[in-house]
Amino acid sequence: MDNKILEVRDLSIDFKTKHGTVRAVDEVSFDINRGEVFALVGESGCGKSTTALGIMRLLQEPGEISGGQIMFEDRELVGLSEKEMTHIRGKEIGMIFQNPLDSLNPVYSIGYQVSEGLITDGMNKEEAHELARETLRDVKISDVESRMKSYPHEISGGMRQRVMIAMMLCRNPKLLIADEPTTALDVTIQAGIIELMNELRSKYNSSILMITHDFGIVADMADRVGVMYAGNIVEVADVMSIFDDARHPYTKLLMKALPTITKEEGRLETISGTVPDLSEPIEGCKFADRCPVCQEICRRERPALREVESGHLVACHCQDAEGGDVK
Ligand SMILES: Nc1ncnc2c1ncn2[C@@H]1O[C@H](COP(=O)(O)OP(=O)(O)O)[C@@H](O)[C@H]1O
Ligand SMILES: [Mg+2]
Repeated sequence: MDNKILEVRDLSIDFKTKHGTVRAVDEVSFDINRGEVFALVGESGCGKSTTALGIMRLLQEPGEISGGQIMFEDRELVGLSEKEMTHIRGKEIGMIFQNPLDSLNPVYSIGYQVSEGLITDGMNKEEAHELARETLRDVKISDVESRMKSYPHEISGGMRQRVMIAMMLCRNPKLLIADEPTTALDVTIQAGIIELMNELRSKYNSSILMITHDFGIVADMADRVGVMYAGNIVEVADVMSIFDDARHPYTKLLMKALPTITKEEGRLETISGTVPDLSEPIEGCKFADRCPVCQEICRRERPALREVESGHLVACHCQDAEGGDVK
């Protein structure tokens, strides 16, 4: 546990709807080491945000954790009361959302909002304002003095996301969860934010859970990667192995589709078929219908996530079968 900041074990999250129970996150397991950037990647709807909200215990009705553990350092987050979670949220685990307007309050000034958390953490007003100024400078906000007095609607989208990053970083959380932090921004501004996050990463020494569908961001930031498909993690490896030695047929197809992904804004048009309906129980591998090397066993048995090489985990029966590899 020492080197691990977060250990997610067999986490399942269900949405109980009128039309049945949707298992959005299905026995997901992964670890994040201290100081590491772990990227969770996968197509839209595969359960990335739900996983993040589960960790933060911010799931909205009808979403609920139906099983598993979330160990943050030596604390189990599943089952903590809302009161206990308020001590962890923001101070120990910070989260940056896709749209900063969801978390910035329109009626308070930037300065107030960035220093508010610090005051909650016990800092006096002067110290909090000084640290807020310093962090806003760190995220490259110019003319900080007048920006402190601005309101969220008075600044650009890129600047709002910087403010959001400052708001999270100034409390120096041990873990930062960034859910598609640049998806809503222009491409040039995206690159700036990623560069900034990489710079700040060493200064603040945060561990980061980076959620994205963009392999460009994975290449620029991640140390290790977890690939999600229909609520399952299908492959975990260091970033080099994901790009050069992908083992799961889904990851391989994602890699083949890469030029298309960057051009078509994440639409994976080269993978035929559709993601299965998660409100119906699925017995075998959820990727079976789209898999080019699907075997009979794949329709019967869910493949477990197994280590195939040191630090490289894959959930695929083909990894077990001789010659069953996707070319
Ligand atoms: N409020 C909800 N009610 C029912 N199902 C939901 C709800 N929110 C999310 N889901 C289900 O959870 C799945 C995963 O969603 P999400 O975590 O947002 O995916 P991602 O972040 O990877 O795009 C969706 O495909 C959807 O089926
Ligand atoms: Mg999402």
